[in-house]
Parts: sequence; C-alpha cells; structure tokens
Amino acid sequence: MCATPPSQELLALDGGIPVRKALLPYGRQSIDEDDIQAVVEVLRSAWLTGGPKVGEFEQAFASRVGAKYAVSFSSGTAALHGAVFAAGLKRGDEAVTSPLTFVATANCVLYQGAKPVFADVSCETLNIDPEIVAAKITPKTRAILPVAYAGHPADLDALLGLADKNGLTVIEDACHALGAEYRGRRTGSISHMSVFSFHPVKHIATGEGGMVTTDRADFAESLRRFRNHGLSTDARQRNASGAWQYEMVLLGFNYRLTDVACALGLSQLKKLGNCGKIHGCVQVCSWDRSSKPAGRC
Ligand SMILES: Cc1ncc(COP(=O)(O)O)c(C=O)c1O
Repeated sequence: MCATPPSQELLALDGGIPVRKALLPYGRQSIDEDDIQAVVEVLRSAWLTGGPKVGEFEQAFASRVGAKYAVSFSSGTAALHGAVFAAGLKRGDEAVTSPLTFVATANCVLYQGAKPVFADVSCETLNIDPEIVAAKITPKTRAILPVAYAGHPADLDALLGLADKNGLTVIEDACHALGAEYRGRRTGSISHMSVFSFHPVKHIATGEGGMVTTDRADFAESLRRFRNHGLSTDARQRNASGAWQYEMVLLGFNYRLTDVACALGLSQLKKLGNCGKIHGCVQVCSWDRSSKPAGRC
C-alpha cells in the first residue's frame, strides 16, 4: 500500500523518503491454466499463424463489442496504422487528435505521411473537447482520432456529428476501453473504426496484439489486406480454395496476429466481465444516457 507522505516531509523527488521501495509493476496479466492449455493446443496443431484461431478470435471479439467486423493486428500500434490507412490518410492530410495519450495515436498519422493536429482535452474527462476539435478542422482534415483516456470514452456523439458535417472518419483509440460504454452503447460499436490493444497492461493480454472493429465492409477489407502485405487473399483462403496464386493490390505490411496469440485472446476474452475488467468488477468508465458533454476548463 502507498501512504501519502505527511505534508511536512519532503517529496522523494526533492530528497525525501520514497513511499515505495520498488516501482509499481509494469503490467500484471492474469493467465490461468486454461489460457495455457489453449495455447498448447495451438502449438500442437497445423497452424501457428494464418489459421482458424484468427477468424475465431475476430468473430468472438466483434460479437463482444457489438461490431460487424473485427480485424486482428500484431499490436495496437499496427492496428492504428491499419485504421489510418483504411481511412485513406496520405501526405498533405491532417488528423485531429488528443495530446494526452500514448505516442502511437499520433505516430500512426505520421506513418502515412499525414500531420497530427492536437486539440486540447476537457479537464473533466481528459478527452478531446469537441468544440476545440471543431476549431481545428481545415480543408485538409480527413479524420478525428479521439482517445478513450483511461477507459473513459470521449464525447462520441459530438465528434461523429462533426465528422458527418465535414466528411471525416472517426478512428477511436479505444486501447484503454475494452468493456466501456458510451450512452448505453459498447465501445467498439460506435465510431467508424475502433482500435484495441492486447499488450499486457491492457484488459486482456496476448503478449502483443491489437484489433480494429468496424461496421463497414470496405474498411474491413482494406484492413485485412493492409495487415497481410497488401495481398488479395490470405494463406487459409488459398488453402481452402486450392488456388496458389495471389495479387498484391496495395502496399501493406506483415502485421498479422499469430494463431498462438489468437488462442490466448479467445481464452482471455471468455473471462472478460461486463465491467470490462478481467476476473473482477472494477467499473470501467461509462457515460450514462443522461450524461452531458463535459464542459471546458
Ligand atoms: C492509448 C494507447 N494507444 C495505443 C497504444 C499502442 O498499443 P500497443 O502497445 O499494443 O502497440 C497504447 C499502448 O499502451 C495506448 O495506451
């Protein structure tokens, strides 16, 4: 337990006694025997990557968050890159995002040669303030990337309204928000695309791993191609159809999540309670139906 240092004592930063001897642990994943068994099963199977566990995990994840499609990636960062690509961002474009986030949210915009433009956050939610976002939109803006900071969704109705008005795509960085709700709707089913991470400091862990959810078939197709070198088909489709040839239809990457990781993800997903916290019931922030958009500082 951490104790607050008495006010007369110096902070550790200023030469006082630290309240803890060791740093807080970096991450504490929760892995049970059944998670281990799920992984072992895959290790004994024919497919270590590109196999059936990928589709199984994607389907289970889509249904958990209430989206039509889920496309897995090798990390949350790769998933953000895929989403920004699918939204069509390119050199000369801009995307409005939050300055209060992990580096990957803005970096994915830079990967596409576009420019991240920071809109300040509301002091009540620590999420980007839609009024400030509106003031940052220019003819070059193509996307808005809100972050559900610490699991609290941004004011998505207001942001989607702005996107509608200006022809933009909302890519929600929901890496902290698996299991969260916004006005009675599940994170992952609201924005044009929502991005999740399965790094061990997140709600469910696959080592490294990420997912994009969307209701748009065209986005899902671009995402699948982008994570697989831009190829028109994947190994399993070719295996099933007996066709060996494939086309490279766009410049993509190897951002695939392995069957080993997907089996772990599937097993972890089963333990995710309604509150979004594995094995527990710590409330993930949610907006209730009556919440008003947060005010500004
Ligand atoms: C808000 C946010 N976005 C993106 C990421 C990147 O996820 P990953 O570590 O899976 O690449 C993180 C990781 O900590 C994050 O906190």
